[in-house]
Amino acid sequence: MKKVFVTSKLPGNAVDSLKHRFDVEVFDKEDLPTKREILESAKDACAIISTVSNQIDKEIIDSCPDLSIISNYGVGFENIEVSHATKKGIFVTNTPGVLTETTADLAWALMFAVARRVVEGDKVVREGEFKRWGPAFLLGIDVHGKTLGIYGMGRIGRAVARRANGFGMRVLYNSRSRNFEAEEEIGCSLVDFNSLLRESNFLVITAPLTESTRGRFGLNEFKSMRNDSILVNVSRGPIVREKELAEALRKRFIWGAGLDVYEKEPEVENELLKLKNVVLLPHVGSASLETREKMAEMAVENVVSALSGEVPKNLVNPEVLNVNL
Ligand code: DGY
Repeated sequence: MKKVFVTSKLPGNAVDSLKHRFDVEVFDKEDLPTKREILESAKDACAIISTVSNQIDKEIIDSCPDLSIISNYGVGFENIEVSHATKKGIFVTNTPGVLTETTADLAWALMFAVARRVVEGDKVVREGEFKRWGPAFLLGIDVHGKTLGIYGMGRIGRAVARRANGFGMRVLYNSRSRNFEAEEEIGCSLVDFNSLLRESNFLVITAPLTESTRGRFGLNEFKSMRNDSILVNVSRGPIVREKELAEALRKRFIWGAGLDVYEKEPEVENELLKLKNVVLLPHVGSASLETREKMAEMAVENVVSALSGEVPKNLVNPEVLNVNL
């Protein structure tokens, strides 16, 4: 029987459905598997189902002679050395689409949490500090009627932007390419990066991590933003220079920030932990029951296709089809 190694227990029954056809090993400890544990369990696998927290590097790929597919549980796949997998004729797949709306919801949760100081308010109540209603108590800023800026108008950016119509917001975006469909659907406008910084009240990062987005938001960018603006990142941590963000928040170059992802995840810049004007979440953008189950189904479908000799639907390295081994 062909072996499938799954690096984490996944929600739902999708992985169980593989068990009658394949030899399935699931790493089901609380902690992430170490590299040594991945090497040990994956060495005779034909498929690996990995998560965005597992680094699937050259050494791991090289140590799995039977590997046909690395099926990543997540839309991002920078944890995988895709070019090396491609050279070796291995499919790499992800789970796009199913987590779009859920991640967009979370971007809005962060926007509101920061703008209306939800986390601070919760703390006040729990700590018995809610003594009376006060005209100037815990004042936040409005979301409705403001300008929303989207950095990266892909699927998730568009879903975040679409929700802005309900709040009467103007939507601007900056992206690698013009998104005519989003413009038509939402009525948003493409602007240059500096205008996005200058004009957005809420700036939401939904761009993928690439060499050109890495470190794109630092002190200079924060200084160009409005001092009543809020930055939200639901994409990838290394797009934002965290230390510089902490400085910008402390000096009030911007009003607040909401982060779901971190530069050196799961570590978080210590200076951020001391600030009240930032809301910090533990990378839960796609973490709804429904979505995490759908992601598992998709990751499993990709494996079944590959191990049945078909091309999986969510291939991120189509060049692999031209590789002659
Ligand atoms: C992804 O899919 O890339 C997410 O960040 C994981 O939830």
